[in-house]
Amino acid sequence: MISREHKYLFNLARKGMKIAELFNVSGKVAIVTGGSRGIGEMIAAGFLANGVKVYITARKEAALIEKAKELSEMYNGECIPVPCDLSTMEGMDDFVSFVQSKEDHIDYLINNAGASWGEPYAEYSEKGWDKVMDLNVKSIFYLTQKLTPMLAKQASLEDPSRVINIGSIDGLNVPALESYAYGTSKAAVHHLTRVQAKRLVGENILVNAIAPGPYESMMLGAAVNHDYSLIESRNPRKRIGSPEDIAGLVIFLCSRAGAYTVGAIIPSDGGLVGIAGHDLSQS
Ligand SMILES: NC(=O)c1ccc[n+]([C@@H]2O[C@H](COP(=O)([O-])OP(=O)(O)OC[C@H]3O[C@@H](n4cnc5c(N)ncnc54)[C@H](OP(=O)(O)O)[C@@H]3O)[C@@H](O)[C@H]2O)c1
Repeated sequence: MISREHKYLFNLARKGMKIAELFNVSGKVAIVTGGSRGIGEMIAAGFLANGVKVYITARKEAALIEKAKELSEMYNGECIPVPCDLSTMEGMDDFVSFVQSKEDHIDYLINNAGASWGEPYAEYSEKGWDKVMDLNVKSIFYLTQKLTPMLAKQASLEDPSRVINIGSIDGLNVPALESYAYGTSKAAVHHLTRVQAKRLVGENILVNAIAPGPYESMMLGAAVNHDYSLIESRNPRKRIGSPEDIAGLVIFLCSRAGAYTVGAIIPSDGGLVGIAGHDLSQS
């Protein structure tokens, strides 16, 4: 028998079966770290197109401000640029102080900003290792920790807040490139997601991770000389990911439709991990 306190959820579900209800995110407030380009820009665009107010961050101020203006105009929405370096505790504190001065709560935190570092094994530098680990892993833990009170503020059993960590298929498969810290950091992101999900679910904050496969971006572009043809030909879907692929998955996770998905690591990779089991170069 369903407990009395949870019965309303089933009534709610029947009322909310239409797509417009089931996938509704409008009126929410989101943060997308690293929203000035690549996957972060795609996620921010998906939110803005559907009525979400979005704060985006990056270090390069001019590009960030320009992107926020472009996205606001394109979607007739509110995209707010906040330049900061999230790889440092000071940078995170400055960012959180700014958001606290503007909002009393946050609905969605998308921990997307990430970095890679490639060097031959024998020369792999501490500088590269720390850069990757500080941004990809440490900043996800501490930024989420610092924003937990704002995420919890309006979160409820019926309408939980969400954290989505952007991992990578390189954290599921072993990458062929000499990016030793990167795959390691992304495997840590996936496990951190489960650890955070366990700690925060009781506060009605649902944490999940997306593990993207190849998407057009400066990071992947630099690794393949901006020629994606080999990657496309070897992908089961014969293409790289598109903005709709990643934005749609994020909207699913943030909407009513995703409210029972917790601590999951969801690949968005055209089937590389699930059916091909290959890394980017071998696939
Ligand atoms: N593209 C892919 O194929 C792919 C595949 C798997 C996973 N991913 C993951 O997806 C996420 C986005 O990657 P992407 O490919 O879109 O990369 P990207 O094009 O290099 O974009 C990275 C974004 O993060 C920002 N950023 C970098 N360092 C930062 C810092 N210290 N503080 C604040 N912002 C910072 C960048 O702006 P600034 O440089 O101005 O700071 C930029 O907005 C990453 O976590 C990446 O690991 C990407």
